[in-house]
Amino acid sequence: MKPMLRPCAAAALALAALLVLPARASAPAAELQRAEELVQGRCSMCHGGDGESSTPAFPRLAGQHAAYITRQLADYQSGRRKNAAMQTVVEDLTPADLGALGRWFESRPSHAHAVANPGLAEAGRQVYEQGHAPAGLVACASCHGPAAQGTATLPRLAGQHAQYIERQLRAFHRRERTNDNAVMHAVASRLDEQQIRAVASYLSALK
Ligand code: HEC
Ligand code: HEC
Repeated sequence: MKPMLRPCAAAALALAALLVLPARASAPAAELQRAEELVQGRCSMCHGGDGESSTPAFPRLAGQHAAYITRQLADYQSGRRKNAAMQTVVEDLTPADLGALGRWFESRPSHAHAVANPGLAEAGRQVYEQGHAPAGLVACASCHGPAAQGTATLPRLAGQHAQYIERQLRAFHRRERTNDNAVMHAVASRLDEQQIRAVASYLSALK
């Protein structure tokens, strides 16, 4: 019996490969093309043609995690996260489009950026890596990772515009960013203005 099984299994595998391969080869190509069209048509004027946004008013998206991006886009669409410009650009997109956009931006390379004030960034590194025990602030690194690379469910912060990070921390604190799960609200309520500027400066220079 044994020698008979092998060619049989090999044939089954070859058949499976024939059935599966064409579908797997064309779906990503079509998705990539769709994402590329959307990005160049509706996102690039603010977030750049490669996810490196042109001005600090708009977040950088290059290298950001796909699942995080897709979730934020769905939240802008439903109004859970409020921003008029973002709601308008995604209102007619399908869940598949939002997934494609997330994967497209995640695949873009991130870049290193110079820091304006090294002393401020150094103070920010301490907040990031150690938190601030007297205020009950845990280290940012304990969730966002030692190099601020994030995870599939948690945003990458490395290389983000300082101005955008500061704005989000203030928005979490005031509960104006309404789609988070209260974690960042608790964190932001323990940061003072100086720490916000410092940690944002530190993060903006990481690659
Ligand atoms: C008119 C400018 C503009 C355009 C066009 C635009 N965005 Fe945005 N985008 C913004 C602004 C401003 C924010 C920050 C809003 C906030 O504070 O919540 C943002 C935030 C985001 C975020 C959240 C980032 C994060 O780190 O949480 C994602 C993801 C995003 N945009 C993706 C897109 C995609 C995809 C497109 C194209 C379909 C697009 N944007 C088009 C201005 C724009
Ligand atoms: C207990 C875990 C945890 C800790 C500690 C934490 N964060 Fe977060 N952070 C999160 C989660 C989860 C999100 C995503 C929230 C969402 O989905 O809307 C987030 C989101 C953010 C965002 C928004 C990013 C974007 O692209 O819009 C910023 C900025 C941020 N965190 C900065 C910090 C800083 C600075 C610290 C330290 C002072 C910190 N976080 C500590 C869990 C944490």
